[in-house]
Formats: sequence, structure tokens, C-alpha cells
Amino acid sequence: MVTRHQVLVASNRGPVSYTAGEGGELTAKRGGGGLVSGLSTVKGDAVWVCAALGDGDREAVRRTGGRLDPADTDGQTVRMLDIPPEVFSDAYNGIANSVLWFVHHMLYQTPLEPAFDTEFERQWRSYETYNAAFADALAEDAAEGAVVLVQDYHLTLVPGMLRERRPDLRIGHFSHTPWAPPDYFRMLPDDPDGGVAAEVLRGILGADRAAFLTQRWANAFTECCVKLLGAEVSVGDDGEMVVVHEGRETRIGVHGLGADAAFLRERSRRPDVDERMASLREQIGHDGDGNPRKTIVRVDRTELSKNIVRGLHAYRRLLDDHPEWHERVVHIAFAYPSRQDLAVYRDYTAEVSRVAQEINAAYGTGSWTPVVLHVKDDFARSLAAYRLADVALVNPIRDGMNLVAKEIPVVSDRGCALVLSREAGAFAELAEDAITVNPYDIGATADALHRALSMEADERAERTKRLAAAATALPPTAWFTEQLDALRG
Ligand code: G6P
Repeated sequence: MVTRHQVLVASNRGPVSYTAGEGGELTAKRGGGGLVSGLSTVKGDAVWVCAALGDGDREAVRRTGGRLDPADTDGQTVRMLDIPPEVFSDAYNGIANSVLWFVHHMLYQTPLEPAFDTEFERQWRSYETYNAAFADALAEDAAEGAVVLVQDYHLTLVPGMLRERRPDLRIGHFSHTPWAPPDYFRMLPDDPDGGVAAEVLRGILGADRAAFLTQRWANAFTECCVKLLGAEVSVGDDGEMVVVHEGRETRIGVHGLGADAAFLRERSRRPDVDERMASLREQIGHDGDGNPRKTIVRVDRTELSKNIVRGLHAYRRLLDDHPEWHERVVHIAFAYPSRQDLAVYRDYTAEVSRVAQEINAAYGTGSWTPVVLHVKDDFARSLAAYRLADVALVNPIRDGMNLVAKEIPVVSDRGCALVLSREAGAFAELAEDAITVNPYDIGATADALHRALSMEADERAERTKRLAAAATALPPTAWFTEQLDALRG
């Protein structure tokens, strides 16, 4: 007998993942991030539905029937779906990461790509199957009138499919990415009677409420609904936009996910972080006068949209334009592996290392390594770098929010100057106290780095205080409950 739930969350990646050891034993690893901490507050009657991502996860599903052992999930109820590996790979690598992610981040080099042909058509059918598997599981586990919060571009079709199965539910969809403007979005096959572009929009409009990280992405979504579907947009009594299409209303919400200050402050003061600070300090070293060198810190997944390579070029330009910084600054770049199943990510990762080495070879001396690049994920070391940062460099070409921009000011020991791309969602809340840049402009970014490094300590501390306040205005728990309340209301 299935236990039915009042609150359901669905996302591709769940809060836990398994690896199988040589003797067949499974080790569970809990993921971090806003959604995990946001959902931990609604433990009681909530279930989180996610996909098995790798072999370890599939084995865990085989052993448990998909209802994971609460001992592995810190008491959370998690249902993991074992979707056939080929279907999963088509949906995740093929459509979600290589098409929808590229569209929303505007990453295509359009002379040759995208080319929507038979391969794409096959993958799209898998994406539909994968979305239907989620819709089936949610329909099965939801109590009468339950609230369902569907996450991200992996699951755009779920709201519509779920509404067909269970019209009694209150359904929300949240996009953690940017949304593409209509001229770019309609690159997707856009026959209004059956095209993929319309299917994505209609899928999300199956929700009672579709929410975004910033007003800019919400506006782009509604513009796509108007231009591609002929939907109408009005503003409700509460000030929220409403999209009306085929007689149904979908409210549009904006919830700017913030940093979890309490967690970050406590976690970043633990001994393992202190240890990493000591070894980073050694790598950074001292300038000719015996002062600790200044640091420009960036921490990212090695993601095409993060603009790590242009960040390195801007740093090189800084060293060219301002030789006074030679020996006095170190660029600490943490670029952690991401989506390595995709060749374009592997190539990008290699390019990051190549450019970092090139800079070190050109400018480094016996006593100074200008770029310290780490590619092995280590959360404690990231926090150590956050604490040490004089300058935080966050220069994505496009980003839904960028939580690093919000986390560094919260954790920083002595205040840091934030160099921030105008194309990051976080720009909406942090621009006033950041030094903002056009992420394509290497010269301007180099200039911003120079200004950031030169900022007086008092001004830096004052700005950091205001940045931290803005960054923590909507912590993960509040971000989550706001959406629940809006759907229930
Ligand atoms: C980033 C994005 C999210 C997305 C996630 C997926 O964090 O902001 O929108 O869901 O990546 O990453 P994954 O590693 O699961 O492909």
C-alpha cells in the first residue's frame, strides 16, 4: 500500500547518490545545495522524487524498490526512479544538457549548431518518456489536493502531464536557469501545433504557478508564451503576472534563492576548513615586502556558461596592464568537474588548464605562481578560499542566479570586493555593491579586477556587509515555504 503525500518535490538529481564498492556494498553520499537544505524543513509528510543517475543509484533502487532507506537520507522520504539507462541518457545528456541548457544559456555557435535532425527527434521522444515516468510516480504518490513542486529544465513536460493524470493537485514549476528570449528560444522546432518549443511552454503552463529566480527570466518566459503560443499576460491583484492560455491560468512567481547564512558560517569555521586555509596560504605566499599576497578567488563547476577561460584572459590582461601586481596577487581558480559525459565539457575543462598553465609559464617566477588551479571538488577547500578572498570573480556569460556570488560575502573573513557579471541572476540583487562587468569584455574585466584589488579596506568591509545582507534575504527554507504558501493560497 503506497503512502500518499501532501507535499512532493521532483528533480532530476536527488538529495543522495550511491556508489557501489568492490564487494558490492553501497555508500550513500548526501548532496549539498539550496534545494536539499530547503526541503529538509518539510520532512514530515513530504516525498522527493528523483532519477537514478548512475550504476550505484540503480543498484540502490533494485534493492529497495526505489523507496530509499531513511538512514541514507537523513530521515527524508526519497523515491528514486530507475528509468532505462538509454532513455535517461537521451533525456539528460541529449535534451536537457545539450539542448535546453544551451538554449537558455545561449551557448550555441550557430553557424553549425543546433541541427535538429533524426537524432534529436529520437532523443526528444526519450525526454517525453522520462518526463512521463516522473508524472506517473508523482500521480501515484500524491494525496488528494497535494502540492507538487517540479524543478528545472529536465522536467518541463511534467506539470502538463501530471495535470492530465491528477487535476486535483496544486502544481508548481521552478526554473533554476535563465530563460531564453523569444528570438533565441524559437530556434527550437517551433511549429505551434506540435513543435518542441510549444511543447515545453505548454508543459510548464500545465502548472498553477511557474516560478523563476529573477524578474528578467520570468519576463523572458512570458514573452515566449505570448510570441510562440499567442497566450495573454495580465497582472493579478497580488502584482504577479498571469499567463492565460487555452482557458487556463498560470501565475508567474519570482523567488530569488539566497545563501544559507547559518549553515555557511558554522560550516566554514570547522577545523577541516582551517587546515585547508593553512595550506592555501602556503601556496599563495608573500610578496617582496613580506605581506601575504592578495587573492582573486573563483569557484565554479567547469561549466561552459561560467566563463572561466575569459576570466583567465582578464587576469592575464591585468598582469599586462598593471605590472605593479606582479608577485603581489594570486588567482585562485577552483574549477570542479561537471557533465564529463559531454565532449564539449571535456574540451572546455582542458582549455581551462591549458590557459592557466600558459599564464604560469609566461609570468611565474621561482617564488610566485600567478594562477593556482584546483580541479578536484573539495567543499572545505572552497570555503577556505571564500574566507581568504580579497576579490571574488563571478563573470558568467549567463547564469540563473549564481550562489557563489552570494556565498563569498557571507563567509569572507575580512570582506571581499565582488566583480560580478551583469548576466548573472544575482546581479538583480547585488549590483549596487559589486563592481559589475560585461562578461565578454576582457579589458573591462581586467580593469574591474584592478579596481577591486585597489579598494580600501573600509569600503570593502562596508560593501561586503551590504552584499551579505542582500545575499541572505531569502534563505533556502524561506524560498521553499514561500512557494508552498503561494500554491496553497
Ligand atoms: C546547476 C543549475 C541547475 C541544474 C543543475 C544540474 O546547478 O543551476 O539549474 O539543475 O546545475 O546539474 P547536474 O550536475 O545535475 O547536471
